[in-house]
Order: sequence, then structure tokens, then C-alpha cells
Amino acid sequence: MKKKILALLLATLMVMTMLAGCGKKSDSGSGDGKGGKVGVAMPTKDLQRWNQDGANMKEQLEKAGYTVDLQYASNDIATQVSQIENMISSGCEVLVIASIDGDSLGTVLAQAKEKNIPVIAYDRLIMNSDAVTYYATFDNYMVGTKQGEYIEEKLDLKNAAGPFNIELVTGDPGDNNARFFFGGAMDVLQPYIDSGKLVVKSGQTSFEEVATANWSTETAQSRMDAIISANYADGTVLDAVLCSNDSTALGVTNSLEANYTGAWPIITGQDCDIASVKNMIAGKQSMSIFKDTRTLASKVVEMVDAIMQGKEAPINDKETYDNGTGIIPSYLCEPVFADVNNYKELLIDSGYYTEDQLK
Ligand code: BGC
Repeated sequence: MKKKILALLLATLMVMTMLAGCGKKSDSGSGDGKGGKVGVAMPTKDLQRWNQDGANMKEQLEKAGYTVDLQYASNDIATQVSQIENMISSGCEVLVIASIDGDSLGTVLAQAKEKNIPVIAYDRLIMNSDAVTYYATFDNYMVGTKQGEYIEEKLDLKNAAGPFNIELVTGDPGDNNARFFFGGAMDVLQPYIDSGKLVVKSGQTSFEEVATANWSTETAQSRMDAIISANYADGTVLDAVLCSNDSTALGVTNSLEANYTGAWPIITGQDCDIASVKNMIAGKQSMSIFKDTRTLASKVVEMVDAIMQGKEAPINDKETYDNGTGIIPSYLCEPVFADVNNYKELLIDSGYYTEDQLK
């Protein structure tokens, strides 16, 4: 009898575990796919943020009941185009795309338009295509403004006599965001360059000259190596380096560590990548901009939901982002300033990183 009861108990336990397992699976988002299929195209796994963006999108879309086709393209434009072609032919009903090169998707997106598949440009605007339905991003101009204002404040440019030496590093020319970051920062800094309070010793000040292909750390590093050996090797002090994001800031920091012996400059960044947060804690990078990819993902899921239900998606900007075919209705999330004083609250208390990840 005892054995029978035990067997029954065990069997009940097994069934319960199985049920719990199933339940867990669907609410952790195995995606029952009832909501339809969504294609998510990301640029590369090389940069930390896109891994987080992709993972957040997949998790949140699946939780909402969609099936997700998530693809990374190793920063290769042709790969991204063929991934999007596959998404279109395999029945995706909405496309969410963080482009590698904003100008290279016109042809493939014409196919999406033909099939009435709405397209959401994710983080980076897709240019010169009338197939783009919505754009969701962080306020890119504000990112640049915050970086410029940080340098203005830390060097006390409004009051100090100067002159101060600064160098400029921005991102990929095929990424529409890079122009907004650089433009936002230069709207703050240019008047000081014009008045001679800020001096760019390398003479490299145009967007083309200071751009970094693919936002590559190595490219930023070797450009900085050249700038230092030509302008700062004789002990000239470098006071600040405007870096549009963390991957370029990392290259600049590596270069300075290897080649520069003067007082450490102010260095800006963006993304709060783990390597850069560690550098902030170590005093090697002054600030970063925190763009909570969970917030962006949840906005995009709201957009997908609205589209699937034939409703208008949430937007808060109808004037900033013209992609060459007209203004794209956009939702701009707010970027947040981060430095050594607030990173704990922003990044650890919010659950974005664990304390261990930053050690
Ligand atoms: C993103 C940045 C990122 C950069 C490099 C930009 O489009 O907005 O957050 O640092 O690409 O991947």
C-alpha cells in the first residue's frame, strides 16, 4: 500500500513538473507563434549592445506571442540583404531592422513593400527607402549634445581662458546616427573652436575626417596613434577627446595608454559597454551615455503589436528624421548621462548588469 501511495505521489509529482515546465516555457517565451512571425535583423555580434538589443527583442516579442527570426550579419551588407530577403520569403509579417549601412537596403525593402510587409527601422534610420513605416531609436542628437556639454562643463569653457587641445572621433559614415551624434556635439563645441578656445591640433574637424569605419575600435586606435605621434609626442597636453561611442573611446584609450604620457584627457562615450564602464571606474573614460536597450525593445514590441492589430503605433516625433523619401514617424527614447558617480544606480540597481560583470 505504502509503495502504491509512493508511486502515485511520484507520478503526480512528475506530471506537475512537466506541466510547470510547459507553463514556464510558454511564459518565458518559447513563442507559441500565434501572433505571427517577426524578422529581426541586427548588424553584428561584435559590439556588445547589439547582442543585448537582439536578445531583448527576441525575449519580449516571444513573450508577446510572436515567433522571431533573429539574424546577425557580421557587419556585412550583402549578408544583411540576403537575411532580409529570407525573412520576406519565409513569411515574416513585420521586419525590424538595425541596418549596417542605411543606404543599402532600398532594393530589398522594395520587395517588402510589394508584399505589404511593414518595416521598423531600429536604432539606425534606413535611408532613401519609402518602405520604412516607423523608426524607433534614442534621441541621437541629444546624445551628441550631452557629450559636447560634458566637455564644455568639465573644461569650464564658458569661463576659462584656455586654449585647450581637443581631438574628435565619430562613427561610421554609413550610419545616419553618426551625423546626429557628431552634429549634436559640434553644435556645442564649434563656437569654442571658432574662437580659438578649443584647438584641434591634428586639424581634422570635418565629419569625413573624423569618421570611424564600422565604429571599429582598432581603426579608432590607429588613427589616434597617428595623431599622437604627429601632435602630442613632444609633451603637448591633450585636454579632451570627443568620442561618439564606447567602441571608439576604447580605441582612443588603448592608444593613449600606449603612446601618451601627459595628463589624462576627458574622454566621452556612449552605450555603457562593460569594457567602458570598467574604464570609467578606473578613471580612464570620463562618461558614457546609457541607452537602456530594454526600453527600446519594449517600444518596438508596442509598435509591432499596434501594426499587427492594424492600429497606429506610438510615436513622439514627426519632424526630425527625414530619410530622403519624407519624414518617418519616430519614437525617440531618452538617453541618460552616466559616469562613475551614478553607474551603480543606473546599471546595477536597475538589473542591467550584475556587480560581478563590472569587476
Ligand atoms: C548606435 C550606437 C552604437 C554604434 C556602434 C550606433 O548606430 O546608436 O549606440 O554605439 O551604432 O554600433
